[in-house]
Amino acid sequence: MRHLMNPLDFTVEELDSLFDLATDIEHNMEKYAYACQGKKLATCFYEPSTRTRLSFESAMLNLGGSVIGFSDAGSSSASKGESVSDTIRVISCFADICAMRHPKEGAPMVAASKSSIPVINAGDGGHQHPTQTLTDLLTIRSLSGKLENFTIGLCGDLKFGRTVHSLINALVRYPNIRFIFISPEELKVPDYIIEMLKEKDIPFEEVIRLEDSMPHLDLLYMTRVQRERFFNEEDYIRLKDFYILNKEKMNLAKEHMLVLHPLPRVNEISVDVDEDPRAAYFKQVQYGVYVRMALILTLLEIQVDEEE
Ligand code: NCD
Repeated sequence: MRHLMNPLDFTVEELDSLFDLATDIEHNMEKYAYACQGKKLATCFYEPSTRTRLSFESAMLNLGGSVIGFSDAGSSSASKGESVSDTIRVISCFADICAMRHPKEGAPMVAASKSSIPVINAGDGGHQHPTQTLTDLLTIRSLSGKLENFTIGLCGDLKFGRTVHSLINALVRYPNIRFIFISPEELKVPDYIIEMLKEKDIPFEEVIRLEDSMPHLDLLYMTRVQRERFFNEEDYIRLKDFYILNKEKMNLAKEHMLVLHPLPRVNEISVDVDEDPRAAYFKQVQYGVYVRMALILTLLEIQVDEEE
């Protein structure tokens, strides 16, 4: 039985097959409409989420399965003091697969070690967010036709943003990728990631000004300043509007640069960018559903034949 804790749990070849499946789903939704009939997905969310939880639920419903779960720790037995290990043992009796989000780094991993059903990490603290990374990779692959030979700028809260950490981790396995990390001094990429890049000899730069990097980017990954992970509100207020992507800055970019954002957006992308054909963040949400459908099928080892 397989779980998904980190994007690196799948090899590049396995990811290719997953993305091929997601693309087939995109073009042939009806073929998959009953693939998970009789199966249940449990969404165990100990931390707020709209997109990720509903994306998982929508994915399972699109596959003809059903969904149970909770969307905040207060309404689960965690509020009575139950451990994650006990909760997953119980959930294993109710569902066939579980997506878990938790504020503590490593919690879904603890759950996976005690689980008799596949567990998907739907975000653990400031650590990893593998299904967002699968979404990001599928979006890049579908809209630009490749997962190699590009310069990607990651901008905003690179310290606390788990989507950033997961995406860098995943991209280093593809050929000829250059990173430009754009953040204020206080929100730089953690040292362990910088060490990993140096070890692998992957080219990267750390800069503060977004404007200077714009003309060089093939992809721009914007992120929200992660208020809930700050130790004090003053720092958050000081940093929250450090970057605002607007029409003027988009004028500095390449004609085919794509703008991605895991969402939710706060102020970091002005709404006047939404109409720009390079704005890919709402398409990204749709790709998230396809890739989660593909992931559920893969982890449940369900194959859909051509004739079906
Ligand atoms: C991200 C997350 O939860 O880390 N959101 C998401 O899953 N789409 C990004 C964020 O909250 O800023």
